[in-house]
Amino acid sequence: MEINEKIEYFVIEKKDNEVLNFEKIFNNNNPIHIEIGSGKGELLQLQSFFHKNINYIGVEVKSKRIMNTVKKLDIKINKNVRLLNLFIDENINKWVKPQTISEIIIFHPDPWPKRKHHSRRLIQHDFINSLSYLLKDNGFLKLSTDHTDYANWIIKHFQERDDFEPIFENDSQYIFPEDHFTTYFDELKESEGFPPQFLYYRKIKSLSERKVANV
Ligand SMILES: C[S@@+](CC[C@H](N)C(=O)[O-])C[C@H]1O[C@@H](n2cnc3c(N)ncnc32)[C@H](O)[C@@H]1O
Repeated sequence: MEINEKIEYFVIEKKDNEVLNFEKIFNNNNPIHIEIGSGKGELLQLQSFFHKNINYIGVEVKSKRIMNTVKKLDIKINKNVRLLNLFIDENINKWVKPQTISEIIIFHPDPWPKRKHHSRRLIQHDFINSLSYLLKDNGFLKLSTDHTDYANWIIKHFQERDDFEPIFENDSQYIFPEDHFTTYFDELKESEGFPPQFLYYRKIKSLSERKVANV
């Protein structure tokens, strides 16, 4: 199959200010899972193959990685995947309708280890607010990181809120979840001695129900 044909099928060309209509894009109303920073697309390829009744949106800022992903996908086998070549920030809530997403995955987000760069970390309260706005009630936000300081940062942010509950206890975040497909970064970081921590949360309150403290 021609690569151009695959690009046209899989890659959504979103116009500025366009709010995406997933029912129209997939021609069904199956649950939507979004992967932010989908990298080389291993997870999208496998998940879409094993879960045909879920629609997957992969968002990745690097166009080369979007192309790596397109090459892995097949129009007949992975017809429940679409890709967006975008930089994601809290403005995601401007182009995804509220309460439409069942699961958001962010695995190995860039850790920005230097303190002066911490403001560039994706996980910030404004960003979590936006994700909360998109998620359905009881929707899942699945995070992983191989960076201990970023893991502690994420845990602290969610401890400061009452709209998500952790679905891991004590040190269970180090155990690979049963349904997890190992990615390139999981293997790379584990071989370097940095095993990923899986920090999974469930949305238990909508933004309007939250007791807003300082966040
Ligand atoms: C360390 S890689 C992890 C890839 C994949 N999630 C995995 O587990 O194998 C992080 C990816 O997120 C992408 N990325 C980082 N920040 C992003 C953002 N704000 N919006 C979209 N993609 C982003 C990077 O280009 C990179 O491909």
